[in-house]
Amino acid sequence: MSFPMNRMRRLRSSPAMRRLVRETKVGVDNLIYPLFVREGKGVREPIKSMTGCFHFSPDTIGAEAAEVASLGIPAVLLFGLPDKKDEIGSQAWAEDGVVQRAIEQIKRAAPELLVITDVCLCEFTSHGHCGVVKDDKVDNDSTCGLLTKMALSHAQAGADIVAPSDMMDGRVKCIRETLEENGFENVAIMSYAAKYASAFYGPFRDAAESAPAFGDRRAYQMDPPNADEAMAEIALDIEEGADIVMVKPALAYLDIIYRARQRFDCPIAAYNVSGEYMMVKSAAAAGLADEQAVMMEVLTAIKRAGANIIITYWAKDVARLLS
Ligand code: PBG
Repeated sequence: MSFPMNRMRRLRSSPAMRRLVRETKVGVDNLIYPLFVREGKGVREPIKSMTGCFHFSPDTIGAEAAEVASLGIPAVLLFGLPDKKDEIGSQAWAEDGVVQRAIEQIKRAAPELLVITDVCLCEFTSHGHCGVVKDDKVDNDSTCGLLTKMALSHAQAGADIVAPSDMMDGRVKCIRETLEENGFENVAIMSYAAKYASAFYGPFRDAAESAPAFGDRRAYQMDPPNADEAMAEIALDIEEGADIVMVKPALAYLDIIYRARQRFDCPIAAYNVSGEYMMVKSAAAAGLADEQAVMMEVLTAIKRAGANIIITYWAKDVARLLS
């Protein structure tokens, strides 16, 4: 036989054949949709830096949550923009804080929808850093104490999962212990375990009004060239009590997702961040990309690399496309 017996094209010959042998499937069950809540009444304002995303106020976020739930998306990830910021971000754990009130409204409008909260001080501090600043540095241990107060107050308001995104050492342990001590043993922790100091967060910092007023986040978020270190970060967070670990960003860090998948047994989440999303949106707006096709290719790649869960601003679009 001079010609190959093996013809790889046989299994690509029709839509049904391709469907039959498809290895990776993006489904709505594994998506998390980020939501931004700010002070005010009747707010539903488009976010300029993030096409297709909106700022809501606590009184309008319930309707949005109900729509997300009706699309079959299991969870939202909540970010808050307070009216008043201070040095330590004290609005972050205020009982009547913007996030705490939003949780209540979401739970009322869509009881079955999981509410995940971002636990980080950068949106709440006047300097925009993720913790307490001492001598121009973010102080690790005192920040952990404040993050713990923040996580507890989210749990008290009804959050199902808290998601620390600050990259302080030891914060997962502090949060886990405090949740246990206060009767929130069933509130899960999704830790931003391997979060890089990435330039892909630009549009989000605009949306969340959380850009640091001085310096950058490189002394606490991970250095992009490092991969072994990401495994150490993830291992520590699991040991400290994280239920789900996250790699962020996703697209430029597919190798990290892949390595984490090979090595750890817990669910791995990947955050398809604002810059990754807006690159595609911008290319599509310029007539250079088919947004829907690129969206599905990007999410499929993240899933194929090994992520069980994807946090994406496209969650609603995907749900509509797949329904
Ligand atoms: C920190 C936080 C950030 C993002 C999520 N949580 C920004 C940062 O670390 O500066 C970025 C998300 C995105 O870019 O989509 N609270």
